[in-house]
Amino acid sequence: MSAQAMRLSTRLAKIKPSATLAVTEALAELRRQGKDVVDFGTGEPDFDTPEHIKVAATKALAAGKTKYTPVGGTLELKQAIITKLARDNGLTYATEEVIASCGGKHSLLNAFLALFQEGDEVIVPAPFWVSYVDMLALADAKAVIVPTSEADGFRLSPSALEAAIRPRTRAVIINSPSNPTGSAYEAEELRALGEVCLRRGLMVISDDVYERLTYDGFVQHHILSLCPDLRSHTLLISSCSKTYAMTGWRLGYTAGPKHVVAAMATLQGQSTSNPSSITQAAAAEALTGPQGCVDEMVVEFARRRTFVLERLRAIPGVTVSAPRGAFYVFPSIGAFLGRRIGGRDLTSASDLASYLLAESGLAVVAGEDFGAPRNIRISYATSMALLEKGLDRFERGLNTVAAAA
Ligand SMILES: Cc1ncc(COP(=O)(O)O)c(C=O)c1O
Repeated sequence: MSAQAMRLSTRLAKIKPSATLAVTEALAELRRQGKDVVDFGTGEPDFDTPEHIKVAATKALAAGKTKYTPVGGTLELKQAIITKLARDNGLTYATEEVIASCGGKHSLLNAFLALFQEGDEVIVPAPFWVSYVDMLALADAKAVIVPTSEADGFRLSPSALEAAIRPRTRAVIINSPSNPTGSAYEAEELRALGEVCLRRGLMVISDDVYERLTYDGFVQHHILSLCPDLRSHTLLISSCSKTYAMTGWRLGYTAGPKHVVAAMATLQGQSTSNPSSITQAAAAEALTGPQGCVDEMVVEFARRRTFVLERLRAIPGVTVSAPRGAFYVFPSIGAFLGRRIGGRDLTSASDLASYLLAESGLAVVAGEDFGAPRNIRISYATSMALLEKGLDRFERGLNTVAAAA
């Protein structure tokens, strides 16, 4: 068939492949060539899904739960989501106000498609998770990027939020703890942002996928428990992926006003239908079963976080702040840019990331696609042995760059 016959839609011109998935692919290619590459790029826990969750899935299989379920999830799963929201967030939802989808990504895309249209603007604090901007573009909405600074802990201030509001602004995305920075908002900060949203009639899209992964005693509060009046214009979006090491199972969920959830169900009913029935059984167990597995993973992430921060802070030229949550650090590598090495000009974080991948056998994600061209993202969701090996490579690579003209 000719290229003309298979002409792609203009929709595709609005988006690009995910930068994080692109790193994974580049790394896979190098590994196919037999190269030894350490992966600091991947945004998923290296732990296996906890046993009791896997058992729930095998039980569901054995019980023949292999048929279509209601589009937005089984009653059992919806009730599990409701239980989780009450237990962890002190929030009360009814079954018609929650919907399960095929991963947090799917929940976000459905939410954007349900809520936004041509000309709508959505405030996205930078650094931001790569997919927001592209998903908003798919929904014909425009991301209005509002920078935050490392000095302010990469957190959006109420005054910056207020200043970014224009006549077509409809919503703000709050992702706390954040991918890629690991920054997270204190209760008072969230309350202040919530008050701006209330006063100015902004919707809040609260992406909570990392809410349980916090360190040094930091407790992530929910904007809705601080500003209950926001309930009618807030969508809470979360996922089993990061909290329960379930990235491959694909289960995300949304809680929000009934009419929005119903609209998302209509979209889902005409596209993917229900998330996998087996995954739903596993997710119900994850959300309502023993939660000690999450605490164990957090203890291990915390140990790695301390190690990574210590190693990074010992590298001259690297600056890094301690993230409150998630499993990423987001060091500034600006001091290494503007140099030339081995025929390469290192003008941006992606030049440096390409250099590290090719010359040091280390995969990191460049900050450009997160809206931060002088930073890179390192994921510490990998073993201590690999962290040590990768950080040795990082240090040697940067020292070599620093010695170049
Ligand atoms: C901030 C953020 N939100 C949502 C997601 C979606 O995760 P999933 O689709 O696996 O639930 C991710 C995954 O990387 C993320 O980092």
